[in-house]
Amino acid sequence: MRIDIVTLLPMLFDKVFEESVLGSAVKNGLVEIVLHNFREYGDGRHRTVDDTAFGGGPGMVIKPAPLVNCLRDVRRLAAPGPVIGLTPQGLPLNQKLVKELALFDRLILVCGRYEGFDERILSEFDLELSIGDYVLTGGEIAAMTVVDAVSRMIPGTVGRQESVEQDSFYKGLLDHPQYTRPATWEGLEVPVVLQEGNHAGIEEFRHCRSLLTTAVSRPDVFAAAELSDQDREALQSLLS
Ligand code: 6GU
Repeated sequence: MRIDIVTLLPMLFDKVFEESVLGSAVKNGLVEIVLHNFREYGDGRHRTVDDTAFGGGPGMVIKPAPLVNCLRDVRRLAAPGPVIGLTPQGLPLNQKLVKELALFDRLILVCGRYEGFDERILSEFDLELSIGDYVLTGGEIAAMTVVDAVSRMIPGTVGRQESVEQDSFYKGLLDHPQYTRPATWEGLEVPVVLQEGNHAGIEEFRHCRSLLTTAVSRPDVFAAAELSDQDREALQSLLS
């Protein structure tokens, strides 16, 4: 997958894409990340990309021409792909959306700064995305989040694909708890069923714990999960 990122702060991304799982994915050619600074398309000697808001108010607004001219050039560099604006007004990102984005061969991510984009820029976007109900100083950290989450859905980026399939949210439930050695630490025991090596027993224990954690911590996620009759019975007996 090729991911183009349009930003005023391309230098923020370098370390994030050099290290760890994301770094290997880039080195192995599974993900190609191309950064574009739309300051180069800014107006005048100072390469201005922002201006005060019509109607007044604090802060600066991203001007339409520099960003849209940059975007038009970026689109032409490779095969088409959705242009995604990162804004707090966007569709909230979730794992289902992440999996859908991972199916594209190309994504173009656009990061805003200041108080937002001039409204006339928005028709250039196929989608606006938000990473949660809080406000960041710009779209860059949100873009990093999208790249990270989408990259690990591409086969080969994460060591074992089963580990992806066992993730929180992948099957619509939160992850089960994990334990490693020692079996007893500061008087705290690892559940016996996990130490015994009975695979069916382990699977059942983990699934029950996923159901329980989801029901308690995220009733919204739990309400949307597809439960089997067995799941319902298991929960009933856990809660009674
Ligand atoms: Cl995508 N951008 C900004 N600036 N703030 C956010 C966000 C995006 N998602 C949540 N908060």
